[in-house]
Amino acid sequence: MPIISTKGKNMPESPIRKLVPYAEDAKKRGIEVFHLNIGQPDINTPQIALDAIKNNTIKVLAYSRSEGSEEYRTKIAAYYAKNNIDVTASDIIVTTGGSEALLFAMGSITDPNDEIIIPEPFYANYIGFSTASGVKIVPVISKIENNFALPPISEFEKLITPKTKAILICNPGNPTGYLYSKEEIEKLAEIVKKHNLFLIADEVYREFVYDNEQHQSILSGFGLDNHAIIIDSVSKRYSMCGARIGCLVSKNKELIQTALKFAQARLSPPTFAQIASEAALDTPQSYFDEVIVEYKGRRDLLIQELNKIEGVKVANPKGAFYCVAELPVDNADKFAQWLLEDFNLNNQTVMVAPCAGFYSTPGIGTNQVRIAYVLKKEDLIKSVEILKLAIETYNNN
Ligand SMILES: Cc1ncc(COP(=O)(O)O)c(C=O)c1O
Repeated sequence: MPIISTKGKNMPESPIRKLVPYAEDAKKRGIEVFHLNIGQPDINTPQIALDAIKNNTIKVLAYSRSEGSEEYRTKIAAYYAKNNIDVTASDIIVTTGGSEALLFAMGSITDPNDEIIIPEPFYANYIGFSTASGVKIVPVISKIENNFALPPISEFEKLITPKTKAILICNPGNPTGYLYSKEEIEKLAEIVKKHNLFLIADEVYREFVYDNEQHQSILSGFGLDNHAIIIDSVSKRYSMCGARIGCLVSKNKELIQTALKFAQARLSPPTFAQIASEAALDTPQSYFDEVIVEYKGRRDLLIQELNKIEGVKVANPKGAFYCVAELPVDNADKFAQWLLEDFNLNNQTVMVAPCAGFYSTPGIGTNQVRIAYVLKKEDLIKSVEILKLAIETYNNN
């Protein structure tokens, strides 16, 4: 029998997707599943992006440049300028989703066994990308009791070793909804400059910030031109997850030249999707205004309803569209599977993402789930009703 690599064996399953076969089975049994497990918004993609594809008269669907089309990158730079991020087209590499930007970033700055410091819990696929790159994640632990506020920034410094290459933050955070303050970014900037590290900021949820808070991009005046790498994506911003377009942004020329070699190896990002993503940049502000009001309403409702369930602890997210809830169950993995296999309320059930996979520290988050508020309010209300009864039933079994 040919042998699978240790790296392959160590690749984690995605906690967001691993229960999909159970959800599919439930659907075959006629049960409606509310998908709170995945950040797939139900919000319409801007018509302008869809029309750009529909009205296109391309005769040959050719490769684009490896770094993405000049026109698209120029328009992305203009978008960044509006967001107080001063970059040019040459600081941008268009990627196949933010996912590929993360892989290119890790590939460009780490060697096997190097370390990246990441506040935990974090976007689960960071473990997959790190495993693929042979990188060790060193977690900085944040706790639900403190609304996932970061420990003092000095805690990051204690974890730095000669193998540390970067600090990676997600701002606003998936799964916590945590939003970094200006002071926190300033402190992180100080540390990465002092220790000559990269600061990678996954800013794919930049627009999704509530309560009149201000998003702080790492390329907005923190003096990080040599250190900052932004990971970005159209997936959530324009509800275009299926376009598979993102980008990596840095003013560090050597980093961009290196990432470009990774980009050349996979030839080009998808051509049609770049056309749609370029058109999406003309989406009027009113679209975002409406979307933000909608998400804020969903967040408020979800948190309010979850807090009514006895024994449930929930953090209050300031951005993105997820929350972490601690449930009064023995094991969230088991419970999430049971919800799909053995439970329904009037032929409806919910799918959630067990949180253990969002931590690299074993044994943490085992009774937590991530809930994505990507469904309309009436479905969120029904989902919480289902969860409430499910918790009672599960614990009485
Ligand atoms: C924090 C974060 N980063 C990156 C991604 C990757 O998104 P995509 O590859 O669709 O751009 C996601 C997707 O959910 C995410 O939540």
